[in-house]
Amino acid sequence: MTHALELVDIHTYYGKIHALKGVSMTVDPGEVVTLIGSNGAGKSTTLRTISAITHAREGKVLFNGVEIQAEKPHAVVGMGIAQAPEGRHVFTRMTVYENLQMGAFSRSGDIADDVARVYDLFPRLKERRAQRAGTLSGGEQQMLAIGRALMAKPTLLLLDEPSMGLSPILTEQIFQIIRDINGQGTTVLLVEQNAQMAFNVAHRGYVLQTGQIILANTAANLAADPQVRQAYLGEI
Ligand SMILES: Nc1ncnc2c1ncn2[C@@H]1O[C@H](COP(=O)(O)OP(=O)(O)OP(=O)(O)O)[C@@H](O)[C@H]1O
Ligand SMILES: [Mg+2]
Repeated sequence: MTHALELVDIHTYYGKIHALKGVSMTVDPGEVVTLIGSNGAGKSTTLRTISAITHAREGKVLFNGVEIQAEKPHAVVGMGIAQAPEGRHVFTRMTVYENLQMGAFSRSGDIADDVARVYDLFPRLKERRAQRAGTLSGGEQQMLAIGRALMAKPTLLLLDEPSMGLSPILTEQIFQIIRDINGQGTTVLLVEQNAQMAFNVAHRGYVLQTGQIILANTAANLAADPQVRQAYLGEI
């Protein structure tokens, strides 16, 4: 089977900083795969490399078997990879609806059905559809960032810390929505610091430490791993 996504020995630099030191991983169609790691481990860099926002100096990024590293970011979105970035990054002066429209920039056709799907997943966004995004709460902006990514009709959704800054209840809701999105057929690569929640929703996971994958296993096995429990699940 061709992997939905395959990273082969990726090396990414910021100037002299060697942020990713030979990262290899796969995501198969229909999976939720989580990438966990501490601050600065290289999680966002991995997602940015996949989205071609940052380019690897060495290695390959294969999407459905096709090399995409040389593509422009908007072309990668057009191929079916959308990212809800860390820190939300919604267009603050535009309304909720206009943000969703922007998410559909890469595709043609009527967007009404997809807007309706996003409003079904996030009823709060429907209530706030005419409100400027900058005036939404943090959690609502997070929902909008995910909704906007879905407007590109991705087959692979990249989520960078969707639970960041959210209350426990909103975190539960966001993770349930990730399950729903996956249940509707979208493959998900989920970057999280909330390892416990990530393991609950993911099929498999990878642990990234200072730019290198140190563990790869099923989510259940990672959740039971003593090293993971100590470092990422707060056990002493
Ligand atoms: N634009 C940049 N210029 C220089 N160094 C950068 C840049 N972006 C990231 N880095 C460095 O690359 C490393 C990996 O950063 P990255 O943002 O990928 O980490 P992360 O795992 O997402 O961390 P966090 O959990 O804090 O979001 C860090 O050491 C960071 O300082
Ligand atoms: Mg990050």
